[in-house]
Amino acid sequence: MRFSDKVAIVTGSGRGIGRAIAMRLAKEGAKVVVVDKDQATAKSTAEDIKAGGGQVHVVVIDATKREDTHRMARETLEKFGSIDILVNNVGWFGKGQVFIQTDEEYWDRILDVNLKSALLCSHAVLEQMIKQSYGKIINISSGAGKAGNSRQVAYSTAKAGVIGLTKSLAWEVARNKINVNCICPGFVDTQLTADFTNNDPKAKQAIEKLVPLGRLAQPEDMAAVVCFLASDEAEYVTGQIISVDGGLIQA
Ligand SMILES: NC(=O)c1ccc[n+]([C@@H]2O[C@H](COP(=O)([O-])OP(=O)(O)OC[C@H]3O[C@@H](n4cnc5c(N)ncnc54)[C@H](O)[C@@H]3O)[C@@H](O)[C@H]2O)c1
Repeated sequence: MRFSDKVAIVTGSGRGIGRAIAMRLAKEGAKVVVVDKDQATAKSTAEDIKAGGGQVHVVVIDATKREDTHRMARETLEKFGSIDILVNNVGWFGKGQVFIQTDEEYWDRILDVNLKSALLCSHAVLEQMIKQSYGKIINISSGAGKAGNSRQVAYSTAKAGVIGLTKSLAWEVARNKINVNCICPGFVDTQLTADFTNNDPKAKQAIEKLVPLGRLAQPEDMAAVVCFLASDEAEYVTGQIISVDGGLIQA
């Protein structure tokens, strides 16, 4: 029960990686705020947390809107009285697009969902974390943000931005006893990946061949590392970018 006196916000926790992180934090005692734009999936995560005996609150927001992210912070404080952990997990890349065929509207959306959401949510909780002299922010970037990928120029750019956000914010708030770290997943078995590969089993096999550890990750693989970074065991770790990708990117 590493998080028994802690309050955690997990964005995009209606499904996929965010859901696994929220479930794991709750299982280890955290009071969890499930944040998503999709009310039905957010409620479903919350029901599962409650069924396991956990304490949970749902906030439905668009994480790319400043006023929504401030409501998220406000409601968390009203409900649970502190904000100890923020996991910036919201992200999206659709089916990817060849750069020359992309337009400004597409870049703006990709940058908003993957990068601006993390900036806004971090900004919304920081005043409280500084007041507490305690906080853990964990950002979800991507292997694409470290190594790049074709058909993912905008997404890679946004996820590289998440890495920059992590490193710079870690410097800025270290003396406030706030740790800021980041993980870079490789290929995770979620709806996002299924949409990207059109649910094609051959694409899944190709990925399995590519990954040194020989399988796609499960969302729980991400949750385990995020929870380490959110815990006091990682008190002396900040500004770090950790690949959780089965050995795909060794840099
Ligand atoms: N799945 C992978 O292989 C993979 C690999 C690398 C990085 N990532 C990153 O991990 C994170 C989670 O990925 P996933 O596979 O679980 O995705 P997912 O699409 O399964 O889940 C994302 C969740 O975020 C929510 N969301 C999206 N936009 C939102 C917004 N504007 N406001 C509020 N909620 C919003 C969605 O409703 C959904 O519940 C993303 O940042 C993604 O870029 C995933």
